[in-house]
Amino acid sequence: MSTAPFMIQNGRIVAYAECRLHGFSGAVKYGCGVFEGLRAYWNAGQHQLWVFRLEEHLARLGFGIRVLRLEGAPPLETIGRGILEMLRANGLRETCHIRVIVHLDGDDELSAKGPVGWMAGAVPRGSSRFVEAGMHAKVTAWARIADAALPARVKATGNYLNNRAAELEAKRDGYDAAILLTADGKLSEASGACLMLVRDGKLVTPSVTSDILESITRATLIELAREAGIEVVERAVDRSELWAAEEVLACGSGWEVVPIVSVDRLPVGDGRPGPVTRALQEAYFATVRGERPDRRGWLTPVWPDGT
Ligand SMILES: Cc1ncc(COP(=O)(O)O)c(C=O)c1O
Repeated sequence: MSTAPFMIQNGRIVAYAECRLHGFSGAVKYGCGVFEGLRAYWNAGQHQLWVFRLEEHLARLGFGIRVLRLEGAPPLETIGRGILEMLRANGLRETCHIRVIVHLDGDDELSAKGPVGWMAGAVPRGSSRFVEAGMHAKVTAWARIADAALPARVKATGNYLNNRAAELEAKRDGYDAAILLTADGKLSEASGACLMLVRDGKLVTPSVTSDILESITRATLIELAREAGIEVVERAVDRSELWAAEEVLACGSGWEVVPIVSVDRLPVGDGRPGPVTRALQEAYFATVRGERPDRRGWLTPVWPDGT
């Protein structure tokens, strides 16, 4: 699936082919940028496209801009408005994955802090087949980047060389996804999502000090699980708990909520998506599609009412 015809670059709607960057920009030379991947869900009954947790994605983007010390980025509200403008310019009335990048531009030295550019586009895309069928995962030989080496909780473009190496290895070996351990051997996260386990009926997830990206979907599921009366425990998690668990799932804006049905070819539980995962999927999809009252203000409408 390809990106919708119009993107927004530095505040201007441009054709996809016109969204360009110099090959010597800091984004390319040093991998210096921060990005977000978020989704907008089409609700046919309401005739509305709902962007899920736009504020939180913008806030995380802002955190990344600060940590990478990028100077001269536009206010987050401008980027937020730009995302909505881009979705409208494409006339999007279908579920899509939105990508936003704020990056070092210009051709300067390693420690340059600007100029800064930004862009956003959307890829019309529904759920993957893994949401239903589950994924077969492998614990990769690559350790997750330690926060003392690169800020793991920042969604920095350069960080993703680590995720890419892990995912390439997993796919090369015939798996759907990679699971990364921290440098000291505890569970961190998947190549593009966070991890949760069901142990004795409780939802267990690596703590935010496990070199994870502080995932918005993870935070969402924690709230939805607690609301459903499921106890949630955030702690250090051992590798072998992946097999001791009744269920394992991965969660992220792009992946959504995906059962992990085997790890290193050893089935998780009975090797099928379990009841807690299914219940969380149901709650999650009802929430993101606007099928439940939006008590927390997580949904931003793209289209004016009644259009
Ligand atoms: C490495 C990594 N971990 C976790 C996540 C989940 O984060 P979020 O739920 O905020 O999308 C992502 C992105 O989806 C990711 O790329």
